[in-house]
Amino acid sequence: MTNDLDITDSALAELRSAADIVEVVGEHTRLKKAGRSYKGLCPFHNERTPSFTVDRDKGLYHCFGCGAGGDVIHFVRQMDRLEFAEAIEALAGRFGVTIPRRARGPRDDRREKLLEAVSAAHRFYRAELAKPASRAAEYLSARGVTPEMVSRLELGQAADSWDALSRALSSSYPESLLIEAGLLQPGQDGKRAYDRFRDRLLFVLRDDRGRPVGFGGRVLSSEGEPKYLNSPESPIFQKKRTLYGLASARDAIRRRERVVLVEGYFDHLALLSAGVEETVASMGTALTPEQAEKLRRLAPKVVVCYDGDPAGRSATRGALALLLGQGFSARVAKLPAGKDPHDVLREEGPEPLAARIEDAPDALDWLLDPAGAGSDPMEQNLSAADKSDRIAGILEILQAVPDTILRHEECRRLARHVAVPLDILWERIRPKTGRIGVTAPPPRPGTPGNDPVLREGEMPASERRLLHILLNEPEYNPLVFSTLRDEFLTHPLIGRVVGALRKAPSEGEGVDFQRQIAHLTEEDRILVSGIALEDHPAPTEKGVEGLLKDLEKKYLERESADIQREIDRAVASSSTDLAELIRRKQENGRRRGELSRSPRWKGM
Ligand code: UTP
Ligand code: MN
Repeated sequence: MTNDLDITDSALAELRSAADIVEVVGEHTRLKKAGRSYKGLCPFHNERTPSFTVDRDKGLYHCFGCGAGGDVIHFVRQMDRLEFAEAIEALAGRFGVTIPRRARGPRDDRREKLLEAVSAAHRFYRAELAKPASRAAEYLSARGVTPEMVSRLELGQAADSWDALSRALSSSYPESLLIEAGLLQPGQDGKRAYDRFRDRLLFVLRDDRGRPVGFGGRVLSSEGEPKYLNSPESPIFQKKRTLYGLASARDAIRRRERVVLVEGYFDHLALLSAGVEETVASMGTALTPEQAEKLRRLAPKVVVCYDGDPAGRSATRGALALLLGQGFSARVAKLPAGKDPHDVLREEGPEPLAARIEDAPDALDWLLDPAGAGSDPMEQNLSAADKSDRIAGILEILQAVPDTILRHEECRRLARHVAVPLDILWERIRPKTGRIGVTAPPPRPGTPGNDPVLREGEMPASERRLLHILLNEPEYNPLVFSTLRDEFLTHPLIGRVVGALRKAPSEGEGVDFQRQIAHLTEEDRILVSGIALEDHPAPTEKGVEGLLKDLEKKYLERESADIQREIDRAVASSSTDLAELIRRKQENGRRRGELSRSPRWKGM
């Protein structure tokens, strides 16, 4: 099992040096040697002139057309849509590298026991449902669920009893374990623990490998609270990382290159019945970044199919913001007012339900008419204030689209629809550019998704070039590091990478590129790879000095504006520390004067 691999840094390093990236990529596109690197047509998008570069020594690829890039492991993941561990396993097998298995610790043993207990409970609950005239089976048949679907989803039933499960399992598992697994509720005042799920139809929650980790239980009687009782969080079940149905939908999602996202267990069941197998349920709560990230590894497209009520629409807006922000292309299925997918299946049948998925309008079209009013609501007699609110709400979501060109395109469509000049919309949508140390929030390590460039502001050409030099021409590193101050850099990612390079011991032959970028998030690594593989003529010492001066100049301009703002504020509040500010401003001006006498950096 891939989860048991002990993927250490040294194992990764060994794999990266053994797996020849030129050979791996070469199977998917024809590569030609061009100088230090290889070039070819990008296997990830359609193009006629090669903008795809592979660098064997650095172990990297990058497409200057579509932005795809990374190392050999990333290539295999992207090409074959594999999980990290799966890609490692595939490459290791192919290039004869042994990745050790993880030694099992006490925590693993405990998890293993919890998994065993939940599986045992699952078998018990399934057998309960299979008993003649079981309440759950009757309930399901009354709702039109076929026995095939019951067995395919491995549904279960918890009998109307306080101790049916407890009696069945307590001889094999300690009470404390059953409580930790969320199967039993601890008793009060020394009383015995009792069954958590009673008189409920049970849907089984699974981990990524398909192993049962908990249950979602629906009340069988018409009253009864809550409608669904879910397993509590445990070492094996974390709600924010779980999507109902993911393990069994994974292949279909990869194959169809899209995922259909629904709210509930019955909605999932309804879509399966309609032949839409690439469906997962977010289980009634707001989609989490962790869930979205899981999906992103599997497919580039999502169809959101939440309930057709105000709560469903508001959840859809939340999901869209997250999904668009992670670079998904998203559509939204339209359901009749007040209906969920299971209602549609019952009332209209499987084909019409499937058709609603196929015909789902794209995110912007849906945002323009979320309630399905039919006519364009912007055409109706909206007051100017209402119209402005509506547009602001849409821009808020479009703002998350990481690709500038796509974002602009959506904005253009919106402008046409609402008859507001594009400039005005574009001005409002543009992500705030943050400055490191001034306004930018601290980098969020490990935050997946969101294109970092746009999340963190555009990347100035001079900073890009500086990083390129540090990565490719290490002989200039001492010069750069003796002059460069952290404040000169505005882009958080560049700041982080340059900081890491500065600390790196210079081991004879420059820096070990893979090691330097190993600690970055995946997105950041892709970006850095892209920069490293850019083609530039070799710089001269003068050129590097000019570049550093340019960075300092820009920094001084920013500092000067900041000081001026502080001066204005100090004057307005008749504060007394004006003298120090003025002194700083003068010093700033003096240094700028010095720099302006040296020639301007015109790029290189
Ligand atoms: P719904 O109330 O829409 O349920 O909640 P449903 O799946 O359509 O079920 P039916 O058709 O009414 O029987 C959507 C999802 O929200 C979660 C469940 O995952 C449910 O499937 N939920 C809902 C809870 O976890 N607890 C609740 O009390 C209600
Ligand atoms: Mn519902």
